[in-house]
Amino acid sequence: MQTAGGPGTIEVAVCPPRKERSTETGVDGMKGLRFYIETFGCQMNEQDSLRAGYQLARAGCLQVDSPAEADILVVNTCSIRRKAEEKAYSLLGRFRNLKGRRPDIVVAVGGCVAQQEGESLLERLPQVDVVFGPHHVSEIDRFVERRRAGGERFAVVSQKTDSVDDLECPGISDPKGLKAFVTIMEGCDNFCSYCVVPFVRGRERSRPYHSLLEEARRLTEQGVREVTLLGQNVNAYCAPDRQGFRFPDLLAALSALPGLRRLRFTTSHPKDLSRALIECFGSLGPLCEHIHLPLQSGSDRVLAAMNRGYTRTAYLEKISALRERVPDVAVTSDMIVGFPGEEIEDFEGTLEAMRIVRFDSLYSFKFSPRPSTRAASLEETVSEVEKLRRLHELQDLQKRISLEKNRALEGKFLEVFVEGGSRDGEQWMGRTRTNKIVNFTGPAGLEGRFLQVAIREGCQNSLRGAIAERSVNPEESPTRLSE
Ligand code: SAH
Ligand code: SF4
Ligand code: F3S
Repeated sequence: MQTAGGPGTIEVAVCPPRKERSTETGVDGMKGLRFYIETFGCQMNEQDSLRAGYQLARAGCLQVDSPAEADILVVNTCSIRRKAEEKAYSLLGRFRNLKGRRPDIVVAVGGCVAQQEGESLLERLPQVDVVFGPHHVSEIDRFVERRRAGGERFAVVSQKTDSVDDLECPGISDPKGLKAFVTIMEGCDNFCSYCVVPFVRGRERSRPYHSLLEEARRLTEQGVREVTLLGQNVNAYCAPDRQGFRFPDLLAALSALPGLRRLRFTTSHPKDLSRALIECFGSLGPLCEHIHLPLQSGSDRVLAAMNRGYTRTAYLEKISALRERVPDVAVTSDMIVGFPGEEIEDFEGTLEAMRIVRFDSLYSFKFSPRPSTRAASLEETVSEVEKLRRLHELQDLQKRISLEKNRALEGKFLEVFVEGGSRDGEQWMGRTRTNKIVNFTGPAGLEGRFLQVAIREGCQNSLRGAIAERSVNPEESPTRLSE
């Protein structure tokens, strides 16, 4: 394992493919430079930032945790809502001051705002040196080198439609080496009318199954116990290197990896939640009992205007089928309020759907018009004040449901994967297979272990528990404890 270390630097655990361990990148003059990366947006962007950091570390640079210490400033932007975009501009405003004091700093802007705005960012923001789209993350070291060598400021935002190799990741885990994300596909062809993703991330492209299987195998050999498969619409996965090899086949292949204890995926689209995928739950051991399945609205009229491709009834039927198979499966979702034309009855339909499904948790947003999307040209009929009122009403309902669902777990014994603790090693935090956070006390040295924890208290966003007396680490014992 290779780590970028040193005083004031952030530790990044990178597990490069074996063949790359001793490879020089060919980028000279970068050794010893310090870089700072700030990431906005989704897990895909987090993963891209890890890849950018990995590339720069391979070129001999060191990651630091403060922009003031850095020679290279990378901003990985998100454009999903106006607020996300504004955050990036405000950070770049602060970087303008830094650059004013030290003109040799290279400021590189990547991610979805970079893709959306392209060269115009260079025109509007004189402090920006390089603009690069999400399809060019792995070239970051060369971009920085080109600019430092005296090249002009430039933007690289072409989108790839055929090559899938650029999605290959070196296999990067969290710094503790316990959990990792594996990107299996990128882009989206769904064109929901409110969403900028198909425009900024491009068309759906799946990675060859053999390369992502290899990446996951390498990670588990290095000690990773939990893998989350990533993509804008993972259940549309379609292997380019094996005919008919779809997402359920991929889940089955990965579940057979020795050492893999937990397998998760995000995000899936309700219309692509097939019978075959539902049947994976409860039959593939590592596949965790949790699905994030964005509903967006509980009104058929609004769902049609959003171009979601399913009705509320169809969604509810899929949830029922899932619960028939795995009664305790956790279901989380995303919801938008104030879509153009959303009447109060439509909003009531959303609340009703929430009462029927009883999501374990929910991300909720006010509609925000985005460039290039169809919904941006629709007349906004819901005022900001009313959007906020609906958002609060929806969130209050969800808070009650989350609390009730977590309280219902009191008295149960759940398997917890211990992720970390307080410095003194007394307070521990882990997650259940249903992705709920559990806090508990225990002796030192529990990190990375699987424990049975008795749930004592269900809170709104987490659970409190105590290590069960009968708890053992199943890795040390073949006996798997159940209730
Ligand atoms: N690929 C995922 C989610 C992508 S974006 C999916 O298909 O569900 C994450 C969430 O942001 C979306 O689920 C949606 O709830 C929200 N979102 C996307 N565009 C939005 C917009 N223009 N305004 C408000 N919320 C939006
Ligand atoms: Fe956006 Fe819809 Fe694609 Fe999700 S499925 S990324 S919401 S277009
Ligand atoms: Fe944002 Fe782009 Fe992700 S718009 S949510 S960073 S795909």
